[in-house]
Amino acid sequence: MKPKVLALQKLSQEVREIISQRCELLEVEDGNRLSKDQLAALLKDVHGLMQSGVKIDDELLDLAPMLKVVSNVSVGYNNFDLAAMRKRGIIGTHTPYVLDDTVADLTIALMLSAARRIPELDRKVKEGRWSKDEETVVDFGVDVHHATLGIVGMGRIGEAVAKRAAFGFDMNILYYNRRRKVEAEERYGAKYRTLEELLQESDFVVVLAPLTDETRLMFRREQFQLMKPSSIFINVSRGQLVDEEALVEALEQGWIRAAGLDVYAEEPVSPSHPLLRFPQVVTVPHIGSATARTRHDMYISAARSLVAALTGHGEAHIVPELRS
Ligand code: DGY
Repeated sequence: MKPKVLALQKLSQEVREIISQRCELLEVEDGNRLSKDQLAALLKDVHGLMQSGVKIDDELLDLAPMLKVVSNVSVGYNNFDLAAMRKRGIIGTHTPYVLDDTVADLTIALMLSAARRIPELDRKVKEGRWSKDEETVVDFGVDVHHATLGIVGMGRIGEAVAKRAAFGFDMNILYYNRRRKVEAEERYGAKYRTLEELLQESDFVVVLAPLTDETRLMFRREQFQLMKPSSIFINVSRGQLVDEEALVEALEQGWIRAAGLDVYAEEPVSPSHPLLRFPQVVTVPHIGSATARTRHDMYISAARSLVAALTGHGEAHIVPELRS
C-alpha cells in the first residue's frame, strides 16, 4: 500500500507527479489557515506532511498518529520542535542548496539598497521632490565596494554572500560562526572574529545564522551599541534573532546608520511597527528565496526528500539534528 501524503499547499503538476508516483497524495489549498478540527481530520491517517512554516510540535503530532516524515519547503526549520519529533521518531527534511544563490542575491540587494538609499530616493523621484535648486541637499549614501562586511553565520548562504562581496565588490570579509571555516578563509580571504570584534569592525553586519535556542535574541542593545554609528545591519535569517525594540533604539540613537530587513519577529510585520517609520530602514516581505525558479526548485527538492524518507527511493535532505 502506498504511504499517504498531505500537502498543505497547492502543488505544480511536476511536484504532484513526483509524490504521486510512490505515494497517495492529498492537496489542500491554504492549508496554513485550517482550524485545528479541520487539520485533525486531515492528519489522522497521513504518513507524510509537506508544508511551509507550520509549527510541528506535540500538539500537532498528537493529531497525526501515523506520521513518519515532515517535509519543509524551506531551508530553515525553526518550525520543528526537534525534541518532540525525535521522541516520536519523526523524520524532518528541508531544502538546502537550491536557494543559496538566491538568498545571497537578496542580501547584496539589501546592502546596496540601504547603503545607497534606493527606496527612499525612488520615492523622492516618483513624488516629484527631485529639484535642481536643492543645492544644499545631497543624497549621499555610503559605498559598498571596499567596505568591511561582517557575516554572522558562515554556512552555504554566508559563503555565497562572501563570494559576491569579495569578488564583486572587493570587500574585506570578517565572519563569526560556531566553528571556523578554513575553506571560506582560503577562498574569500575571510577572517574569523569573535562576535564582539566583528560588530566593532564591520561597516555591514549581515545576519545569516539559523534560529536556534543559542541564537534567539543574539542582537540586543549591547550588540547594537558595539556597532559603528556608520554601520548598516542586514537580517535575512529570522526575525527572532533580533530584539526589535533594541534595533529601533539603535536607529533612533544613531548607534547604527541604517538597516535592511527581510524577516521580522512577527510575520507579516504590522504596518504600525516602529521599525517601518525609519526612511533608512529598507524592508521586504520575507522574500529571500522568492524567485519563481528557486521556489520551483525548493518544491521539487521537498517532494523528493519526502518520498525518499517515506519509501527509501532517492536521497532525503534530513535536518542534521534528526539524522540517525
Ligand atoms: C528559508 O527557506 O528558510 C528562507 O527563509 C526562505 O526565504
